[in-house]
Amino acid sequence: MSERSPFTAHNGFTLPSQGLGTYQLRGEAGADAVRAGIESGYRLIDTAFNYENEGAVGWGIAGAAVERGELVVTTKLAGRHHERARALVSIEESRLRLGLDAIDLVLIHWPNPRIDRYVEAWAALIESRDNGQVRQLGVSNFLPEHLERIEDATGVRPVVNQLEIHPYFPQEDALTYHRERGIITEAWSPLGRAREVLDEPVIHDIAAAHGLTPAQAVLAWHSSRGVVAIPKSADPARQSANLAAAEVRLSDDEIAAITALGRADGRLFDADPATHEEL
Ligand SMILES: NC(=O)c1ccc[n+]([C@@H]2O[C@H](COP(=O)([O-])OP(=O)(O)OC[C@H]3O[C@@H](n4cnc5c(N)ncnc54)[C@H](OP(=O)(O)O)[C@@H]3O)[C@@H](O)[C@H]2O)c1
Repeated sequence: MSERSPFTAHNGFTLPSQGLGTYQLRGEAGADAVRAGIESGYRLIDTAFNYENEGAVGWGIAGAAVERGELVVTTKLAGRHHERARALVSIEESRLRLGLDAIDLVLIHWPNPRIDRYVEAWAALIESRDNGQVRQLGVSNFLPEHLERIEDATGVRPVVNQLEIHPYFPQEDALTYHRERGIITEAWSPLGRAREVLDEPVIHDIAAAHGLTPAQAVLAWHSSRGVVAIPKSADPARQSANLAAAEVRLSDDEIAAITALGRADGRLFDADPATHEEL
């Protein structure tokens, strides 16, 4: 049984227990929101080529009063860029738009298994790392079969797998699988996009017991089960409240009560990585 923290990968790379999502944070207002997030304490920032906001994220980072070395800036390779030469250029373009000497962490955004070029994309990420463009490599929306295939082909294991995880879709099996292999689990849409899940009575009860809001209770559930949530908020007050919740530890019974809200059809928009395509 490993003693490794759930926020430490097999190679010693560590992440903070919560990061800032940036989907839909664009333009000057997006840059302001990213800067506010960093200044309220976020050190992990999550963007993607396909969010069309790497420029705003880079601008926010550049304007924030924090040492560059404290930040972990993540972006993701788009599905239409899996071919080796395209991937290498795409990553370099992301790095330039972000205004960074090197990107701290690059993920393959989706495996797109029907197109079946994610092994080639993974090899290109490794090349980008060896060329100094990127520091750490991970994936998003990968099932165990995809994780095993890229590692078998290259000998390189991702440090992160970023998945849809919220109380309606808790992904218990994936957490166990990752923990056994030293892959850090990140949760996208960790608040279930702040929809009806935040009205669940069990979440309200647990929130009240700890003096939290329902959104904070959900974020405490993530960190308590060893998952790095990356909630998106444009609002500085909600950003700070979200970050503070990552320090709250729920009991095993409270964790189990929220996990029990999970259901087979709990995905937000039916994005099963075995079939879903995002280019
Ligand atoms: N890898 C992937 O395929 C993938 C897919 C989707 C998302 N992502 C990443 O994951 C991040 C988070 O996911 P998401 O943006 O889809 O959803 P989310 O973080 O679950 O929810 C975001 C929504 O919740 C609201 N919100 C935030 N904090 C709140 C609070 N304390 N109380 C009430 N409402 C609150 C936000 O509104 P305000 O902004 O007004 O606060 C926004 O409408 C994305 O931004 C992106 O970086 C990755």
